[in-house]
Formats: sequence, C-alpha cells, structure tokens
Amino acid sequence: LAKLKSSKIFFRNTRKSQLTFIPLRNIQVSIIGSVGEVGSNLALLLKQNPKISRLQLYDDNESVNKLALELDCLPGGPTVSAFAGPSMLCPAIRFTDLILMVDRTHRKPGIKREQMIFANAPPVQKLCRAMAEQNSKAFLAMTTSPLNSIVPFASVLLLNYGSYNPFKVFGITHLDLARTRSLAGNVLQANPTELQIPVIGGHSDETIVPLFSNISPKTYEVSERQADMLTRLIRKAGVEVINKKYGTESASLSMAWSINEFVDCILDALRGAEVTVNTYTANPHFGTKFFSGPTVVGAQGLVQPCYEFKLNDFEDKLLEKAIPMISRDVAQGEQYVDVFE
Ligand code: LMR
Repeated sequence: LAKLKSSKIFFRNTRKSQLTFIPLRNIQVSIIGSVGEVGSNLALLLKQNPKISRLQLYDDNESVNKLALELDCLPGGPTVSAFAGPSMLCPAIRFTDLILMVDRTHRKPGIKREQMIFANAPPVQKLCRAMAEQNSKAFLAMTTSPLNSIVPFASVLLLNYGSYNPFKVFGITHLDLARTRSLAGNVLQANPTELQIPVIGGHSDETIVPLFSNISPKTYEVSERQADMLTRLIRKAGVEVINKKYGTESASLSMAWSINEFVDCILDALRGAEVTVNTYTANPHFGTKFFSGPTVVGAQGLVQPCYEFKLNDFEDKLLEKAIPMISRDVAQGEQYVDVFE
C-alpha cells in the first residue's frame, strides 16, 4: 500500500488535453443525505472509485448503518463508515476533503424549483454550521434544489459563520450536461460520449442555456429549429421524470451518475491536476453573482470560472432572459439566510 501511495499515475488534463503526472494521496469524501435515492446510488458508484480512501456516509436516518455495512462488504475502493443522526454530522465531515450535499426533499408535480428552498434550506444550514465549526477547508459541492439559490444561500451562511471560501463552494450542474449530450446525440444520430456541448447559466427551466453553436466535433451542426426543440426538452427534463414517477421521486439515477462524473474530475483536482467541470459558482463575468458553466478547478479550488463564449443570436436571447432570473434566484437565496438569524 505504501508503495502504491508514493507512486504516480497518468492523468489526462482535460483543459490542456495533455498527459501529466499526478501523485496519489489519501482522499476522504463525505455524502450528506446518503440514504435517499440519490445518496445511496452515489455511494455505490463512489465505492468503486479507487481514488477515494475513505467514504463517510451521513444521514439523519439510522438506515445509513445498513447501507455502509453492505457497501463495506464489497472488495476494493474506499473504506466506508456510517454516521447516523444530527450529533454525528460533525464527525462525518471533520477530516473530509470533499463534502457532497445531496440531501433533498424532492419536487412534486406542479411545484417549481424555487419553491423548494423552504424544505431544503434547513439541512444546508446545519451543514454550513458544522463546516464552520469542524472543517472550513473542505470543498463543498451541492445538488440540493433550488441550486440557483442554495449555492448563494450556503455562501452567505459560511461568510456569516466566518468560514467562506468562494473558491471552494460548487453547485453541480453535470446533469444538464448529461441530458444535453444524450438528447443531442439522439437528434444528430451521434455517439453522445463524443459530443462536447457547453451548458451555461443556472439550473432551472428559465436559466439552463445549452450552447449548440459551440458543439464539438465541428462536423456536427445543430439547426436553430433543433436547438430550440432541444433546449425546451433539456429544460423540462427534470419535470418529465417527476411526472413519470407520479411525484414519488425526481431524477435520482441520472443525478447520481452526474454527481459521480463531477466527483471523478474533482478527485484529480484534489490530487494536483487542473480539470474542467460544469459547475455553478461565484462568478461575476456575466452580470450575476453566481453562474454555471465549464470551470477550471485545481487543488485549492476554483482556478478559472467560465467567462467567454461566442454565442449565436438564439443563444444570446436565451442568455439575456436567463440573467435576470439567475439574479432573482441568487437574491432569494441570500435573503433566505435571515430566516436562520
Ligand atoms: C432535475 O433537474 O432533475 C433536478 O433539479 C430535480 C428536479 O427537481 O427537477
């Protein structure tokens, strides 16, 4: 094991597209909200990741113990530990490098994402308090809805608690990326894993802005009619799943898969590489305080937020409409902090 730890592996630097050496190191990851459909599927995926040394599963619900017991029986991957109940939140995150906040009350049919702040803010507040007390150095990455407001909400709370690092607070938006690539793959009859299509803005029906004009490989072309249709489908994809599940859950397997894709890149960042992930972070380049898009992240956090794209007229209009919506959502999150003071 000691030999393995001191060895080095090849890593493809996604920004510069070149092979670089990066050292292995012990990395601890905590999942907050492990028992839910997203958390448990994510735990299974992360248990298979050899870049993680310890996987800490936290949930208010006692059944987190059963989940950890089962996962710890699987050979390979990280050691898994369970932390059940509010008094175990601090130990669950104390020595962690990456905290994944996936706890959520899921949306029901007819409910908009912004209405979810009432149900979803309290566990985020508890986590921010625990981070301020125990571990303000960790990366915090969230998918809790409404993401456009929850990331600013957590940021203001951490600031108030004296432990805000804007370079280390992330909203994970890889689900929009996954949906964009797979839906575009169907329309273009292309292999979605080969498609690169930036998705910028925020994570809601009015703020997800896929940039089909920036598609790569350049051999593919998306007409304005196709872009319009695909954009509507991508924006409605969350609601579509909720309706198909008759309101019993929202997207969970695809959400877990997308978080796993983000985490796998961040693990390389924590080990010293610069990687590009799709994430909603503090970003002043588009006239809002927070913005999502391809972002370069390194061992100390955010290196370069997304800042420049060539847009066609259709995308320009989408972005123009999205900006005030993002600002409204950011303000909602920042103001919601008052409820906890
Ligand atoms: C999604 O896009 O599937 C998630 O944001 C969950 C939801 O409430 O739609």
